[in-house]
Amino acid sequence: MSQNTRKYLIAGNWKMNNTPSEGAELVREINLALGQETSVGVVVCPPFTALEACAGELSGSNVQLGAQNMYPKSEGAYTGEVSPVMLRALFCTFVILGHSERREYFAESDSFINEKVLAAIESNLKPILCVGERLEEREAGTTMEVIKKQLDGGLAGVTAEMAESLIIAYEPVWAIGTGKTATPEMAQEVHAAIRADLATKFGETASKIRILYGGSMKPANASELLDQPDIDGGLIGGASLQSKPFVELVKIASNK
Ligand code: 13P
Repeated sequence: MSQNTRKYLIAGNWKMNNTPSEGAELVREINLALGQETSVGVVVCPPFTALEACAGELSGSNVQLGAQNMYPKSEGAYTGEVSPVMLRALFCTFVILGHSERREYFAESDSFINEKVLAAIESNLKPILCVGERLEEREAGTTMEVIKKQLDGGLAGVTAEMAESLIIAYEPVWAIGTGKTATPEMAQEVHAAIRADLATKFGETASKIRILYGGSMKPANASELLDQPDIDGGLIGGASLQSKPFVELVKIASNK
């Protein structure tokens, strides 16, 4: 259990990896090891095309399912998009929104991400809103400015009551897929500042919102990160693509 009774959450972001059968196999292994885990929240976020196969493996499991993106409307003429209603129908309970790869490669703006956050909550999906600075922004000393702008934009119109289902992921862009991790102190500094900002927005509810760290998190560096008072779990990319390190990460959190 992390500080202030926030339950740790370990979420795997598979990104554009795994076919339905590969995904089902991976989830089968994870489920075998963690299906009864209750002290830590465990979520896997496969690509859309593998959601159904993974959901099939997870019925009755404590391992939950999330998507990596969605369109902020329930249905309609939006070729190529997937709605929150469709995700709910595939037993998703979480959705990653505003990942830096979507901001960068698909030009997602804070206001578009905000529409998604509102639509997700409306549909009973828990948004995992990603924020984080690029290397040049960190070097220019503007990290918190950048993150505050992402939080202000992404959370516009979200009330304290709505924020109960919110999760934030701090993912410094320079640490994603690079093997470079923020030091626990660096990450804690930003997590604390994020929580302070959430407190100005949502009051007491801020102490209940989980703030995950993401960016080259793996079993070798997870323990120290998770020891930080405002780090409530991890959003894991590379180390979530095999069951062994992912399961190990959950065990590290559950032993805290
Ligand atoms: P890596 O763990 O591969 O650095 O990816 C982090 C991430 O982007 C999770 O969303």
